[in-house]
Amino acid sequence: MTASVDGGGRLAVGGVDLLDLASEHGTPVFVYDEAHLRTRCREAVAAFDDGVAYASKAFLCRAMARLAHDEGMCVDVSTGGELHVALSAGVPADRLVLHGNNKSEAELARAAEVGVGRVVVDSFDEIARLERLAAGLTVLVRVTPGVEAHTHEYVMTGQEDTKFGFSIASGAADEALRRLRAAERAGAVRLRGVHAHIGSQIFLLHSFVKQVDALVPFFAPLGLPELCVGGGLGVAYIGGEEDIGIADWAATVHDACAVAGIPTDTRITAEPGRAIVATAGLTLYRVGTIKELAGIRTYVSVDGGMSDNPRPVLYGSGYEAFLPRATTADRPWAVRVVGKHCESGDVVVRDACLPCDAAVGDVLCTPVTGAYGHSMASNYNKVPRPPVIFVRDGAARVVVRRETLDDLLRLDVGD
Ligand code: LLP
Repeated sequence: MTASVDGGGRLAVGGVDLLDLASEHGTPVFVYDEAHLRTRCREAVAAFDDGVAYASKAFLCRAMARLAHDEGMCVDVSTGGELHVALSAGVPADRLVLHGNNKSEAELARAAEVGVGRVVVDSFDEIARLERLAAGLTVLVRVTPGVEAHTHEYVMTGQEDTKFGFSIASGAADEALRRLRAAERAGAVRLRGVHAHIGSQIFLLHSFVKQVDALVPFFAPLGLPELCVGGGLGVAYIGGEEDIGIADWAATVHDACAVAGIPTDTRITAEPGRAIVATAGLTLYRVGTIKELAGIRTYVSVDGGMSDNPRPVLYGSGYEAFLPRATTADRPWAVRVVGKHCESGDVVVRDACLPCDAAVGDVLCTPVTGAYGHSMASNYNKVPRPPVIFVRDGAARVVVRRETLDDLLRLDVGD
């Protein structure tokens, strides 16, 4: 959002020159435009009711949790680990929403101890755990609306064949409600509403209309005050794709709810992750070697790869690549950008286009790596994870430092 290009084609974000940043902090490095993050959070708060949550699985560190909270969002955490990070960032527990298809007794007990605002109930075993805990936690019940969103099957969650939630069609959702109402009468929980999430990286707004249409016959008769439609809004990664925007998504959801006759005082919330952070982040790498295989292809190897961005390998996701020293240059050279891991599948950008003079030593940028990059990063091949830097008003702030070689030994107790 704050990107600017100088007369020579050099790129700055948040007023910080990216080549200078790469020299100072090394590569690979994740860079986030803080103003962009804040704007997206504000858009979400403006578009949905209070209670709209940032899905922290997309990217979580204490600075990010604090930023989302400062901008008025709740924070969705889906494990005890995410809960711990959000709490240590100072996010008040009552602004947290706890998810997970297999929450342990310990995770639920911790949620009760600190006073988490919402628990989204996902299984009968979890209901039994909540009954035993009897802590009066406020809960939503997660249902499966039977909607197949148009996205990668690994990130589809609304269809019948899924590990998440209770199926409406099979009657499991009715049974879950019966059990939760009984638990409520016994003082074990407070039942507030219904939750559904149909998948991720969804571009067809119509999928969300189908979601609401499938939910309403179940939700409306319950007379509950809250409906959460989950996350899933897609973002543009490559040329030719276009962002939909949080406001249009929310308008579609609200219209569908109104048409379906959901009472106007219902609190309609959502949990965007990718739409908040994806386009705010980019990764800088340095080119280490270029191999031109005559008649086959050219491989451009960078100093990261599937350990900092597993998405191309996992989902076949596409990215763009360019040189921040020559942002506006033509990019006629078709290459494959690969990482430094010991696997042929370690692809960063399968079909990249670079300027013809791209060379060893160049800093290479892949934009739109702000979601599910750092959060899914690993130490495969014992590659230390990159740092995360927020840029804003000409200043760069390290919010997660680079892992060191000694960090790689931190958990290793020796012999
Ligand atoms: N709410 C629930 C219950 C979720 O399971 C998710 C994502 C979200 C909200 C946020 O969805 P978003 O707005 O970010 O699409 N690693 C995959 C995406 C996995 C999504 C998991 N759940 C990827 O890199 O594409």
